[in-house]
Amino acid sequence: MTSTCISGVIWGDEGKGKIIDVLNEKASLVIKYNGGCNAGATYVIDGKKYELHHLPSGVLRDKRALIAQGAIINPLKLIKEISNFKKINLGIDPRTHIIFPWHIAMDIARENKLGKNKIGTTAQGIGPTYEDKMSRVGIRFYDLIGNKNDLERKIKENYEIKQKVLKEVYNFEIMAPEDGKFGAKLKKFSLKEIVQLYSKAGEKLKPYLSDVSEEVMHALEKKEEVFFQGSQGFLLDIAYGNYPKVTSSSPSVSSIPENVGVSLKSISDINAIGVLKAYITKVGSGPVVTCLDKSKWPVDENVSENIANKIRKEGHEYGTTTGRARRVGWLDLVVANYSTKKNGFTQIALTKLDTLADIEKLKICVAYMDQGKITQEYKGYATEWLNNVKPVYREINGFSKQKILNAKTFDQLPENAKEYVKTIESVLKVPVTIISTGPDREQIIWK
Ligand code: GTP
Ligand code: IMP
Ligand code: MG
Repeated sequence: MTSTCISGVIWGDEGKGKIIDVLNEKASLVIKYNGGCNAGATYVIDGKKYELHHLPSGVLRDKRALIAQGAIINPLKLIKEISNFKKINLGIDPRTHIIFPWHIAMDIARENKLGKNKIGTTAQGIGPTYEDKMSRVGIRFYDLIGNKNDLERKIKENYEIKQKVLKEVYNFEIMAPEDGKFGAKLKKFSLKEIVQLYSKAGEKLKPYLSDVSEEVMHALEKKEEVFFQGSQGFLLDIAYGNYPKVTSSSPSVSSIPENVGVSLKSISDINAIGVLKAYITKVGSGPVVTCLDKSKWPVDENVSENIANKIRKEGHEYGTTTGRARRVGWLDLVVANYSTKKNGFTQIALTKLDTLADIEKLKICVAYMDQGKITQEYKGYATEWLNNVKPVYREINGFSKQKILNAKTFDQLPENAKEYVKTIESVLKVPVTIISTGPDREQIIWK
């Protein structure tokens, strides 16, 4: 087996960053295959914290890190991220689409217009960039680093039409946050400024050009260890998530051949690791059956259940990209089971077990009650159905933080924590092979 995929089982922020960092020691390539700077993964190495949005985790171990065409990039942000490293071994596929200020403006304008029905996007221009890719008017990395006149023409064509739509439909303009940060003051971008900024960015990023699809195929042919790093989680998948409260790409294991450009056959024996957090969180709106927050969206911490506030505080459940409070709830194994089956996860990495410590009674949702009938079916496509089903919980007694932190093997875990893990295995019918008990590289139990 030479390929491994690390992907989020539910709504992302499960701690994929840490798991992939721990596992990729032997990898020769680490590939980001979906999403853009909406993703935010945090890594703690020897007590030092790193936040990556665009870059695959491989850069933290001086591995070859690749951005495949299924991902998208904001070159201005990517350059900032690269500047944190003295040396970087990065490759970007020429087919990768580029995020421009008009995409960010469109994302913000649309959300404003949707009002209380908004998706709660990360305002990074993700949806509009993927739309342009599909409409065949997008600008790719290949264009960004290519002929300057052609790039200028493409930028001008896009700028004019986007400005018009923004003005006429949304009473908005081509604007984006000043320092690129979520919620920051908006700054207008002139055509001239965009041409200058993006041409310069193209020059800086040109050395990273690589036909990622070819590079990965060759590595697979040579039986090298290849790691695919998913962003977000399966319930945010454009097709199989809770549409329309989803992102615009596919984090699924089955999207890899298309997103990266490798054959299905070349990864047929993939080791698919689903990263599952010991409880659920959701940033943005959309139905969450096991939600513990009384005000569902946006979260109002003043009216939340104490348990929700405790978990949020202990687990630092605030968006890496947006800083927004994430909704919190009990682990939902109905959703996890749906995702496990669709992705074909062969093992589960369970994270943040420590965050659940020191709570008297824990609950795990093992089924739903649907109009008086117990079911394990998940109709993620039907919003009203999701709003009406009720969780069926199994209760497990809590465990102490100290005991969790002291455990170095599965056997050393407190009995109740073991029961928690075994419940997951019995419902998902997949082994939990990795248990993470803290943010650091060293805080891990191999089972
Ligand atoms: P996305 O691509 O945005 O979905 O990111 P992600 O899945 O990598 O997760 P993210 O980094 O957003 O969130 C995980 C957070 O939890 C980070 O701050 C990690 O340092 C931290 N973390 C990871 N594993 C554990 C754990 O077992 N216990 C605790 N307490 N923190 C953890
Ligand atoms: P977008 O990807 O910015 O368009 O946001 C669409 C939805 O996906 C929103 O609910 C976001 O909060 C959510 N989302 C996007 N990226 C992430 C992530 O990395 N972690 C968790 N949620 C995310
Ligand atoms: Mg995150």
